[in-house]
Amino acid sequence: MKRFILTLITLFTMNTLFAQELIELPKPQKTGGKPLMEALNERSTSRDFIDKELTEQQLSNLLWAAFGINRSDSKKRTAPSSHNNQDILIYVTTRNGVFVYNAQEHALKKIFGEDMRAVSGHQNFVKDAAVNLIYVSDFSKLGKTTDEIKRITAATHCGFIGQNVYLYCASEGLISVFRAWINKEKIADKLQLPEGFEVIYSQSVGYSK
Ligand SMILES: Cc1cc2nc3c(=O)[nH]c(=O)nc-3n(C[C@H](O)[C@H](O)[C@H](O)COP(=O)(O)O)c2cc1C
Repeated sequence: MKRFILTLITLFTMNTLFAQELIELPKPQKTGGKPLMEALNERSTSRDFIDKELTEQQLSNLLWAAFGINRSDSKKRTAPSSHNNQDILIYVTTRNGVFVYNAQEHALKKIFGEDMRAVSGHQNFVKDAAVNLIYVSDFSKLGKTTDEIKRITAATHCGFIGQNVYLYCASEGLISVFRAWINKEKIADKLQLPEGFEVIYSQSVGYSK
C-alpha cells in the first residue's frame, strides 16, 4: 500500500513537472510561403550568420516544417521514416536555452536554461546562429537490427528533415547549414542523453549578415 501511494505521488510529481516544462508554440502557419519551385530554386547552404533571434512564429513554423505532425488522425509527420518509427528527436539550442521539440503537443520542453549553441559544432558561426537543431535518434525505436543499420537509417531520416528545414529557410529568407562536423560524444554528454540515444547531425538556422 505504502509503495502504491509512493508511486502515485511520484507519477503525479512527474506529470506536473512535465506539464510545467512544456512551452506551447504558436500554431504553425501551414499556408503561404514561396511556391515550392521557387523555394527549391533558392535552397542553398550559407554560414554567414548574425546573432539575431527568430520570432516564436518562425520557430514554430520551422519545427513544424522540419518534423511536425501533418496528419492529425495518423500522427504522421512532414518527413518520412522507415516503418513510420519516428526515431528522430530534435533538440533546439537557442540564446535562451536548450529544448526538445514535442511534435504531438507542438511545444518545446525546456531542458537547460543556458545558451549552449556553441556546443553543437566545431565551426565558429554556430555560436551566432539563432537556432542550432541537433538531430538525435532514439535507437530503441529502430527495431532489432545492428547499430550500423540503425545509423544509416537515422542519417537518412535526418536528411529528409534537413531538406524540409532548408526549404522552409529558402521560403522565409533565412539561411541554413546542415552539419556533420560535430563532436557527437561531447554533445551527448552536454545534453545528458540517455543510453540508446545517439546524436546524428546538426543544422544551423538563422539570419544572414
Ligand atoms: C551530410 C552533410 C554534411 C554536411 N556537413 C557540413 C558541415 O559539417 N559543415 C558545413 O559547413 N557544411 C556541411 N554541409 C553542407 C555542405 O557543405 C553543402 O551542402 C555543400 O557545400 C553544397 O552546398 P549547397 O547546400 O548550397 O548546395 C553538409 C552537408 C551534408 C548533406
